[in-house]
Amino acid sequence: MPFISSSNSYHPIHVGFRFFKYYITALNGKGHGVHSPFVFEFITKVMNDNRHFYAYNSVEQVRQSVLKNNKVLSITDFGAGSTVTKSNKRKVSDIARSALKPKKFSQLMFRIVNYYSANTIVELGTSLGITTGYLALGNLLGTVYTFEGASEVAAIAKDNFSQLALNNIDVIEGNFDETLQPQLNKINKIDFAFVDGNHRKEPTIRYFEQLLQKSTESSVFIFDDIHWSKGMEEAWEYIKQHSSVTLTIDLFFIGIVFFRKEQKVPQHFVIRF
Ligand SMILES: C[S@@+](CC[C@H](N)C(=O)[O-])C[C@H]1O[C@@H](n2cnc3c(N)ncnc32)[C@H](O)[C@@H]1O
Repeated sequence: MPFISSSNSYHPIHVGFRFFKYYITALNGKGHGVHSPFVFEFITKVMNDNRHFYAYNSVEQVRQSVLKNNKVLSITDFGAGSTVTKSNKRKVSDIARSALKPKKFSQLMFRIVNYYSANTIVELGTSLGITTGYLALGNLLGTVYTFEGASEVAAIAKDNFSQLALNNIDVIEGNFDETLQPQLNKINKIDFAFVDGNHRKEPTIRYFEQLLQKSTESSVFIFDDIHWSKGMEEAWEYIKQHSSVTLTIDLFFIGIVFFRKEQKVPQHFVIRF
């Protein structure tokens, strides 16, 4: 989740203004004024499910351990999200502080996987595997295909999966540009996808189009940092306007995409979370 300025991102103050605008214009997050029964159910039963799942403790314990891990890794710099530091040596603890999705969003993804019983799950951008852990625990009978280019980072993620005793994760190493399509050719469908790496317009649209090949009516796709840069906002607009997309929910830090055919007229919600 990149937040530091670079040629590919808005200045943090700009993001702050955009967040303020989102916050005052978004629907209140309780479902009031939402006429779509599907979206109302999503808000009340998934987004706002405040129950504490046991899985949360296990993954958050691993997050605490990576936050304290001072091991230095050599990083292969891939997408726009890797511009936090110029050095290609980074401490695990620094990666844990700057690159991982906060628990509020990872736990929402756990609930989405769990509620809709997603079986085939794709994550672009494993990093240390914290969100991956949530996705895998969301449905232990499903499989998570998670993609990561930086091999020393992927190695830490794999250790974390062992700590969590998770056997339903397949880590695919290498540049998404080379690894995604061959893996997609091997799977029948995607129930859930989280695109959280290489936060730039063209690659994001390209990954969306590739993932679409295996989407179904009930797939859920999530895109990270949709308001982080002009390019990412343009990519998000492109996705919203795509003919296969029938429903989107903008939670500012992530955008959620549905393909339900029952939804005859496309609708786009902005909801406070
Ligand atoms: C923001 S982090 C992912 C965080 C993770 N999803 C989480 O929430 O815990 C993005 C990761 O994507 C990887 N990445 C970015 N662009 C890539 C590319 N083109 N190919 C492979 N990996 C890439 C980076 O190395 C980085 O580890």
